Amino acid sequence: MAKLKVAVLISGRGSNLQSLIEATGEVDHPATIVSVISNIPGVGGLNRAANAGIANHVINHNDFADREGFEAALHQTLLEAGAELVCLAGFMRLLGDEFVKLWHNRIINIHPSLLPSFRGLNVHDRVVESGVRFSGCTVHFVRPAMDDGPIIIQACVAVPPDSSPNDLAARVLAQEHRVYALAVRMIAEGRIRVVNERVHIDGAETPDMALLNPR
Ligand code: GRF
Repeated sequence: MAKLKVAVLISGRGSNLQSLIEATGEVDHPATIVSVISNIPGVGGLNRAANAGIANHVINHNDFADREGFEAALHQTLLEAGAELVCLAGFMRLLGDEFVKLWHNRIINIHPSLLPSFRGLNVHDRVVESGVRFSGCTVHFVRPAMDDGPIIIQACVAVPPDSSPNDLAARVLAQEHRVYALAVRMIAEGRIRVVNERVHIDGAETPDMALLNPR
């Protein structure tokens, strides 16, 4: 069966990109990465793509007079690559309504919190500051509002009382690398539908357990 063609949009080091490269590199994986696009030149993620032999492009938002121009170039590059799914992986630009509409239910994002809590930037500082006992990460379909859209999968980690934002970031990042690859796999397997802004996943099991922190 033909593999789902995935484009990954990045702005930085690309550790989530790396997890997707590794997952889709397995012979029986139902998706393949056809393009990596960064809006910032020279970032580490571009090297990861090049090392894996994946076509990579820089579309620098500073080269365009406005967002429409930038997004038109992005759209064109995605079409030329034959992308069927767009994964935002540390992509630090908000996408406009028109672009999100063009790619409706074909753009997913990973965010390092249990959405809808802690949208936006500096998540781990705010999580530690808040005193919540759990944090985690979320993969969701993209809607025009920031860090908004139907939730596909989440992973949760306990926040130790003495945790620093950096410790927490590392704990969450390890889970990001698991869930992003899983979400892409489930989409590529055709198991995911969005109905009334809720995600339905064929054959998904809900774990029958509760976590307590502290125990
Ligand atoms: C991740 O924490 C992701 O959740 C957020 O940006 C970070 C990107 O990290 N959206 P990387 O570039 O994938 O290492």
